[in-house]
Amino acid sequence: MEKIVSLAKRRGFVFPGSEIYGGLANSWDYGPLGVELKNNIKNLWWSRFVHRRDDMVGLDAALIMNSKVWETSGHLSNFSDPLVECKNCHERFRADQIDLGAGCPHCGKRGTFADAKQFNLMLKTFLGPAEAKANEVYFRPETAQAMFVDFKNVLDTSRKQLPFGIAQSGKAFRNEITPGNFIFRTREFDLMEFEYFIPVPVNDVDWEGYFEMWKKEMWAWITEDLGVNKEHVHENDIEKTELAHYSKKTVDFEYDYPFGRKELYGLAYRTDYDLKRHYKEPPYRDPRSGESFWPHVIEPAFGLDRSVLVALLDAYTEEGDRIFLKLPPKIAPYKAAVFPLLANKPALVEAARKIYDDLRKNFVVAWDDRGNIGKRYFSQDEIGTPFCITVDFDTLGEGEGEAGEKNKNTVTVRNRDTGKQERVAIEKLESFLHHEIYR
Ligand code: GAP
Repeated sequence: MEKIVSLAKRRGFVFPGSEIYGGLANSWDYGPLGVELKNNIKNLWWSRFVHRRDDMVGLDAALIMNSKVWETSGHLSNFSDPLVECKNCHERFRADQIDLGAGCPHCGKRGTFADAKQFNLMLKTFLGPAEAKANEVYFRPETAQAMFVDFKNVLDTSRKQLPFGIAQSGKAFRNEITPGNFIFRTREFDLMEFEYFIPVPVNDVDWEGYFEMWKKEMWAWITEDLGVNKEHVHENDIEKTELAHYSKKTVDFEYDYPFGRKELYGLAYRTDYDLKRHYKEPPYRDPRSGESFWPHVIEPAFGLDRSVLVALLDAYTEEGDRIFLKLPPKIAPYKAAVFPLLANKPALVEAARKIYDDLRKNFVVAWDDRGNIGKRYFSQDEIGTPFCITVDFDTLGEGEGEAGEKNKNTVTVRNRDTGKQERVAIEKLESFLHHEIYR
């Protein structure tokens, strides 16, 4: 974990938030490479689950909603964690995350904890100039509620029929008692989730079929798009007593983090709990039977920051003294890096610059002309750039012998994972990269 946190800072993936002012309670800022990685994951998620499906539509709702939403959804009364305070050092902990009998993890004293209290995780603020009770509002703790509140608007405008889903990604806020482990648990984070609306199940088999379908889709996302080894991810069927207030069944996808096996994503069967609470009248009318009812909901929820963390952890590879991020090319911040073999030969620089400028029209590409080629490879490996393109004397037609002649107008392309190099014609570079990255 320390290696990842250090690499993230050193190479511009993730920095401690507000660092020059001493930081702020586990907040983190995504740097130039981090924002590319994060955006690639977010866009890929949207592409897989929204654009490539005809049973899904998107939504981008306001982050602050009418407080009645949270009253009705049950969050104001139920969205809480058990809190204990040490009477000796006054440090606060989540009661379910520590061994209360073993003494205070901060000061070590035993028998200093009073009974746990429920602590609501909703982050409160005021809307408008007066800090009055009537102006109290909450930052959303999940993106889900807008998809229920806007259900009828989406239905009326998109003319979708069941089953169909509404997807949304964006910020969520939770006043976590103990944030920590880098970007694993923070108070401000990005969620990507969708609500998949299904007809009222006649029996358990009806909703279980959809539940299993989404479980498979989540596995496909984790292994194919995020590039995570499936051996590192495990399903955890959440005990009935541990279920969130809205869930009849939840399966968590857990990852083997360096700090233990913990949640990555969640898949929940929310029944008709939310729509029944928000709509007095049934919001859906079946066009065939004419029957009106409250659809049921299956909800896959994906933390974006945890996706970034897991992609980094799973991609981190050490082979001898070589360190590289084996990120799937689709999510790598840079798709390629372009180098002139020598920085002090204007003809090499000019040819490389032309390739760099052309590729940048369609790909995010890095430029490097510092140090020797070995150092440049090392530097790109560490940030997961899948292809390094070198312009040399052969490219210019100044190479020696038959090979030199043959290699005119070609470049070397070096593969991050295999270290192998091949010559590719400049005019084919774009289609080569496209094929290698998006196949
Ligand atoms: N709408 C359902 C929902 O919000 P959740 O299990 O509470 O479910 C969904 O959260 C996902 O959000 C989690 O699986 C995790 O990936 C991410 N997540 C939750 N709390 C987080 C936090 N404090 N920091 C970062 N990610 C978090």
